[in-house]
Amino acid sequence: MHSPGEDNGLRDAIFQYATQRLDYNPPPLDGPQTFEKLSEQAGLTITEEGMGGEKALNVFADVLAPATISTDHPGYLSFIPAAPTEAASLFDLVVSASSIYGGSWLEGAGAVYAENQVLELLASECGLPKTSGGVFVQGGTLGNLSALVTAREVAQKKHGAKDYTIICSTESHSSVKSVAKVIGVGTSAADSGETGAINYESAKAAYEAALAGGQTPFAVVGTAGTTNFGIIDDLAGLARLAKEKDLWFHIDGAYGLAGILVPELKELYAGIEHADSLIVDPHKWLFSPFDACALIYRNPALAKEVFSQHGEYLEPVNKNKDEWNPSDHAINLTRRARGLPLWFSLATHGVATYRDAIRANVELAHQAAKDRSCSCNKPCRIPRRLPSRRSARVSSNRRAGSRAKRTSEKSRFTRPSASPVSAATAAIKPSEPPKIVSRLAPSVTGTRCGLLNSHPSVAQRYVLATSSANSPLATAALSS
Ligand SMILES: Cc1ncc(COP(=O)(O)O)c(C=O)c1O
Repeated sequence: MHSPGEDNGLRDAIFQYATQRLDYNPPPLDGPQTFEKLSEQAGLTITEEGMGGEKALNVFADVLAPATISTDHPGYLSFIPAAPTEAASLFDLVVSASSIYGGSWLEGAGAVYAENQVLELLASECGLPKTSGGVFVQGGTLGNLSALVTAREVAQKKHGAKDYTIICSTESHSSVKSVAKVIGVGTSAADSGETGAINYESAKAAYEAALAGGQTPFAVVGTAGTTNFGIIDDLAGLARLAKEKDLWFHIDGAYGLAGILVPELKELYAGIEHADSLIVDPHKWLFSPFDACALIYRNPALAKEVFSQHGEYLEPVNKNKDEWNPSDHAINLTRRARGLPLWFSLATHGVATYRDAIRANVELAHQAAKDRSCSCNKPCRIPRRLPSRRSARVSSNRRAGSRAKRTSEKSRFTRPSASPVSAATAAIKPSEPPKIVSRLAPSVTGTRCGLLNSHPSVAQRYVLATSSANSPLATAALSS
């Protein structure tokens, strides 16, 4: 299909596009477009003859990209933003260019070695033993799935087939219910009450209610950073219940567990060291591109028993029992080495920079929470007005050290000037004065590696650091 160096023009164009996209500060927010408009503007893009790479890139740049929200835009606050470091994004390109098979040690030893160092770091921050281990899967949903399948298998080995149920929280992420549906078990939600967090008592009440209803609880899921408010459950209390009732203790830290890297915040996660499994999504708060979820087991051998695949074609990869095959630890076989962008960024900037960046996020959140200048008297989250597409399209040319012209002026990747406002864009409803972001952003941009994009993630997470039951901020947020 392709010989190296065959199409240097396309290579240059792609690198130019990627460089320009990385230089956007901020990037254009963009937004979805109707099917009819896309059909009209992009037309049928796949033909027998092909249109050629440069033309296809132009279709992407001019039509498809503007119809796709930039989740690293500072105003992207309705859903969870992704704010990768430049190092992580650049290395994603390297991963793609390298055709790495990340499923087994035999095929991807170097990549697996590097990914495992990241998992080791995260496990050690959480106080898990050195023997723990896991794999980067596609996202938190699949991380929760593999962890809870392992938990269910462990229970089934002990107790046989039962009407199993998962003890979770009314604030658990939707993926927990989804996992339960997929694996054919129930969920028994403990009441998170006014604090938004479940604890020993509420989880025990849910446990007893499940038993009374004829169900057999096999796992308790604690959330380290709820999706709505960033609230952390009483993990120590849940660990106690898990120990007392012989339940698997899983922690869904997809959203907020990254905060554990900040020493001052560690106590919020007390009890995590007892987890049987946990997840954290680097694409949420570890400055990595989509898509990655670090899934870690206290005893990875239990997962291996469940997920290891066998067949004569897999004999070579299964032969050496001491080799670490990531695919053995989740429901996957072929896999992208999706932990590598985070590995590269951590290796480049150092863990201390990550601690600083996350700390800066939390400080910004505190500042935002303190800001009462708006009239609504609720904790502040997002600017009332988002930057317009025109101003958002300003890019900087770092190499030349000068400001680049607007892409709408004469750029190789000229974009259409009209900005479609769709339902999803409209859903990003600004509700607070614009000054919030502009005034607070510098406190984040001052971080050592210049994680400029980290500010979008912040306001949405402002409750995280103050989410103990006593926190007035958490209470305010809950009542808002
Ligand atoms: C707490 C929590 N768990 C799990 C998930 C699911 O993660 P993903 O979207 O990567 O599948 C999310 C996503 O928002 C989340 O906030």
